[in-house]
Amino acid sequence: MSLVLVANRAPIRPTSTGWAPALGGLASALLPVLEAQGGAWVAMQEPDERTPLFQRYPDDDPRFTVRRVPLEEPEYAAFYQGMANRVLWPLAHYLVEHVEPERTFRDAYRAVNRRFAHAALDVAREQGGAVQFWIQDYHMMLVPEMIRGALAGAQVGFFWHVPWPASEVFRIVPSATALLKGLLGSDLIGFHTEGYAENFRESARDLLGAEIDPEGVHWQGRHVRVEAHPIGIDVERFVGFGERPETQAQAEALVEELGDVQIVLGVDRLDYTKGLLLRMEAFERFLELYPEMHGRVTLLQVATPSRTGVPAYDRLRRDMDEITGRINGRFAQGAWAPVRYRYRSFTQEELAVLYRAADVAFVTPLRDGMNLVAHEFAAVSERGALVLSELTGAADYLDGAVFVNPYDAEGMARSLREALDLPEDDRRRRLASLRAAVERLDVHVWADRFLTSLDGRPAPPADGE
Ligand code: UDP
Ligand code: G6P
Repeated sequence: MSLVLVANRAPIRPTSTGWAPALGGLASALLPVLEAQGGAWVAMQEPDERTPLFQRYPDDDPRFTVRRVPLEEPEYAAFYQGMANRVLWPLAHYLVEHVEPERTFRDAYRAVNRRFAHAALDVAREQGGAVQFWIQDYHMMLVPEMIRGALAGAQVGFFWHVPWPASEVFRIVPSATALLKGLLGSDLIGFHTEGYAENFRESARDLLGAEIDPEGVHWQGRHVRVEAHPIGIDVERFVGFGERPETQAQAEALVEELGDVQIVLGVDRLDYTKGLLLRMEAFERFLELYPEMHGRVTLLQVATPSRTGVPAYDRLRRDMDEITGRINGRFAQGAWAPVRYRYRSFTQEELAVLYRAADVAFVTPLRDGMNLVAHEFAAVSERGALVLSELTGAADYLDGAVFVNPYDAEGMARSLREALDLPEDDRRRRLASLRAAVERLDVHVWADRFLTSLDGRPAPPADGE
């Protein structure tokens, strides 16, 4: 059966020398799946983007097709920057103060979803034979219902990559019921955790009056299954990056360049859900509490440009510049800077160097559907400790972490100290447990289990379960 995947963000982006994987958890997870399984990926083309509308990828050994849906500036602003990123994204992450609905958003969202549904149906016709449609994330909530409306017997799976909030929060979005009905065009809806799946079933019950059971939602004579399928990373790929001699050499060079300090690492898109400002405050508090650590620890924070032009993101960029400047202004001495801030994107090979060099990964989102950076760190690190927000999906699975409440700067400062001081054997035991969990959640296992379940066959057990 062939696969037609629909996701707003294409899995590859043009660079000056060719193509690189796109940024963000969804694209990094699904690119290796499509490379392994083949099929088609329907994605947006941004207004100023010079990319082909049809592309076979990779050039030298094509494995799958990218089909792009071009968006004009006004619909990009209302659909992507607006409905997706000023309404649904903050709402899913419980950050209600960032929800800014406007009337034009809804209409643009519906119109763009319709164009994606048509493109997916076209691609399916071109591919011929039996097709599985696999729709991704909060940009595409109406697509399942649209595909089912056009092709009654279609097999439609949906994966929601961010948290699903409590129904009392989801109901804030104008058009909440229409969005729910859109999703319920699916046969199977997947979430990263059982908690999100439960919130979704309850939203269908509370807002649509649908009958629910522990397996799903009864809707218009069908039973829509709602299941937890935790995503992971391509473990082999990351372990491979970590084991390269050049990764090790570059990691050592980085430690030396930073002055032989212990490295605390943050890697995030520049996004308010990642808890960056509170993390900076926690680090500032750490420096106040532990003057003996001055000159011995540096926070290396990568913040990758994301969703520029959305006001909250532009504001966060300014706030981060200010707070990193303030901390360095207050505490820097000689060659030592407490914070090294990098506002640019890194390739995953470059990130592997940082994961290898770090003593602690400081992963403190206010909410996060899963958080793959935590997985990547666990796959690559040889000796590090993971400090992880308990409000991430990853916290349900990565037992070996030191857990923190990302709203509690004081608590995070103390936990950071604890993580830096973990005795060697404890650190290794935790890392082994993290590595085992990350291997169980491998992205290829995730995709197989989801698609097998969508197909109605009993899902294979995850390796090691
Ligand atoms: N990433 C990257 N380069 C960067 C920053 C991030 O390739 O400069 C990748 C990172 O390797 C990870 C993904 O983007 O696979 C981020 O996923 P995560 O689930 O942590 O967060 P999201 O961005 O999806 O919210
Ligand atoms: C998260 C979302 C994805 C999104 C990614 C990057 O992972 O779940 O759907 O693609 O962030 O964000 P962007 O807006 O650049 O696609």
